[in-house]
Amino acid sequence: MSGGAARAEAPVKLWLCANEDLPPEIAGVLAANWLDGQEKEAASRFMFERDRRQYTVAHTLVRRALAMEAGLVEPELVIWRSPRGRPFLQYPEGGLPRGGQQLDFNLSHAGGYNLLGVVRRQRIGVDIERLDREAQSLDTIAHTFTLEEQAWIGRARGSGARQRRVLRLWTLKEAYTKARGLGLGLPFDSFAFILDADRGVLDFRPPEDDATGRWSFLELEPVPDVLVAVAVQADEGRPPVLQLHHGFPWTRSAPLAVALPEPVGEERDEEDELLVS
Ligand SMILES: CC(C)(COP(=O)(O)OP(=O)(O)OC[C@H]1O[C@@H](n2cnc3c(N)ncnc32)[C@H](O)[C@@H]1OP(=O)(O)O)[C@@H](O)C(=O)NCCC(=O)NCCS
Repeated sequence: MSGGAARAEAPVKLWLCANEDLPPEIAGVLAANWLDGQEKEAASRFMFERDRRQYTVAHTLVRRALAMEAGLVEPELVIWRSPRGRPFLQYPEGGLPRGGQQLDFNLSHAGGYNLLGVVRRQRIGVDIERLDREAQSLDTIAHTFTLEEQAWIGRARGSGARQRRVLRLWTLKEAYTKARGLGLGLPFDSFAFILDADRGVLDFRPPEDDATGRWSFLELEPVPDVLVAVAVQADEGRPPVLQLHHGFPWTRSAPLAVALPEPVGEERDEEDELLVS
C-alpha cells in the first residue's frame, strides 16, 4: 500500500460543534430517538436548561459521528462506561460494519462547545476549555501541577499570559488522563509537560504507570479564546494526520487537515497494553 493510501486510512478525527449549531427543537427530537435510557436520565437530571442543552448536543454529536464512523444507526450504538466513567463503544459480535474492533472515542464539553475525538487504534483523550474562567479557579488548578510547571506559569508576563499557560497545561493534562481513562484520579503532579512559549508540547514526562510512555499531543485554538488539547497514544507506524470537522455532522463534509506532532515522552521497555481503569 502506498504511503498516501495509508495516510487516508486512519486519521485522528475531531468534531467541534457549538450548541448553536443544533437548534434546540431538533436536538430534542434527535435525543428522544437516539439516546439510551442512561443518557435520557442524565439529561433529565439537570437543573438548568442551559446544561441540559449542552449535554443533549454533546451526546447527539457522539451518536451521529460514531454512527457514521462505525456504519451503524445512532440508536443501535451501545455505549458502556468503565468503573471510572470512561465511555467505550461496544463492538457487536463480528465487529463494527466499518472498522472491525478498532475504534476509540472521547468527549469534552464546556461553555457552549462540544468536542469529540475518534481514533481507529490506540487511545484518544480530548479536552476543551474557554479562556474566560475565573482567576480564582485557575489558581486552584495551578496548585495541582508540578513545581516546574508552576514556575513556568509564574514566569508569564501579565495575567492574560498566565491564564493561558494554566489552561494550556490543564487541557493537556485532562486530555492525557482522559485517554488513560483515569480522569482526575491521576494526580496532575505525577506527570509533566514542557511547552513551547506559543503552542506545542516540547517534552512529556509520563507517570510511572504508563506502560508505553509515548504520546502525540496537539494544541488548537479553533475559535478565539477556546483551547483544545488532544492526546493520542503513539502509533509509530501510522502517519500523524488529524482531521477537524466543524459543526453538527449531518453529512460527510470536508474536514480541515492538521499535522499531528511527532510523539514525545519516554519509550518504555514493556510490551504491556496501556493501563486503562
Ligand atoms: C473525566 C473527567 C476528568 C471529566 O472532567 P470535565 O473536564 O469536567 O469534563 P469534560 O467535558 O472534559 O469531559 C466529560 C466527558 O468525559 C467522558 N468521561 C467521563 N469519565 C471519563 C474518564 N474516566 N476517562 C475519560 N473520559 C471520561 C464522558 O464522556 C464525559 O461526558 P458525559 O458525562 O457527558 O458523558 C472527570 O469527570 C473525572 O475525573 N472523572 C473520573 C471520576 C472517577 O475517577 N470516578 C471514580 C469512580 S466513582
